Amino acid sequence: MDPLASLSARFGSLRAKGLMVGPIPAEILGQPPDTVKGASPRTLARMPDYEYVLSTSDGPVGIVTLNRPKQLNALAGPLMAELVDALEGHDADPAIRAIVITGGSSVFAAGADIKEMAEASAVDMLLRNNIALWDRVQRVSKPLIAAVAGYALGGGCELAMICDVIVAAENARFGQPEINIGLIPGAGGTQRLTRSVGKFLATDMVLTGRMLNAEQALHHGLAARVVPQEIVVEEAVRLGKEIAQKAPISVRLAREAITRAFEGRVDDGIEFERKLFYLLFATQDSHEGMRAFVDKRQPTYQGR
Ligand code: CAA
Repeated sequence: MDPLASLSARFGSLRAKGLMVGPIPAEILGQPPDTVKGASPRTLARMPDYEYVLSTSDGPVGIVTLNRPKQLNALAGPLMAELVDALEGHDADPAIRAIVITGGSSVFAAGADIKEMAEASAVDMLLRNNIALWDRVQRVSKPLIAAVAGYALGGGCELAMICDVIVAAENARFGQPEINIGLIPGAGGTQRLTRSVGKFLATDMVLTGRMLNAEQALHHGLAARVVPQEIVVEEAVRLGKEIAQKAPISVRLAREAITRAFEGRVDDGIEFERKLFYLLFATQDSHEGMRAFVDKRQPTYQGR
């Protein structure tokens, strides 16, 4: 098939599946944007074969949108794999200078997929070692900006905290509610939340599952800015573009230095937390907690 026709067919089917919006990007067609009627440089499909994320860009800013809204963007293994792949794609693209991670203007992510874990043993969790994927998010070399609207809970809060800047919508809710289902945070929450908001508030949040609203998150240094819900992604992209105008190597080195200040010695804690998280799957209470969530009932804990 003629390569152009084949591209058109491919993007047509992606559009039909809802994986791509807007016209076929002119750049992909090998033409400058203004020569294709209706072409918009704002919505470019980069890695459009994903099922659970959308990967686009706006100028120098990559945008990865979690796209599993019916399950509140629960971070199932396949979604995480796509997210990491999309981030690494943007990281490898010299035209991209900052990356926004978002769930859109309704929900960021309600955490790891509880249904996926409900029947897993500690050994299953250790062998799956899904959380190791998060180390690849941490290794992305470009500034990551989380645009958080709605719930950022459990792994969702941890995903926001692995980013360099959090832009929160007014309706954002941050929390580590794993305790409610007989677990603890497993993707860095005990370490990064403690460093972000301090030991005492972090303990309060992790032991009770209490959430912070956007203003509280701003006040306690978890969010860098709070904006109206409708413009949270726009603001994050605007911030990404502002960073993109700065000297790239300065940006890279400044980020590395801040990361060292923040993450120095965190790795040990993260490894420790990850093992404890997996270990909890050996308890009856964790399975009671997760099953109760799936069954939509209150859990009963026995301390076993
Ligand atoms: N995993 C799997 N499915 C989830 C989910 C999760 N973390 N969070 C929400 N969902 C699903 C619900 O089961 C429901 O699916 P169905 O329609 O098929 O029943 C759908 O998303 C909508 O959720 P709700 O009906 O519960 O929505 P709500 O508005 O009443 O409540 C909520 C919203 C308060 C966020 C509630 O969904 C909730 O408490 N979710 C779980 C939050 C949580 O405990 N997160 C931590 C997970 S463990 C973890 O993340 C470990 C780690 O550190 C890596």
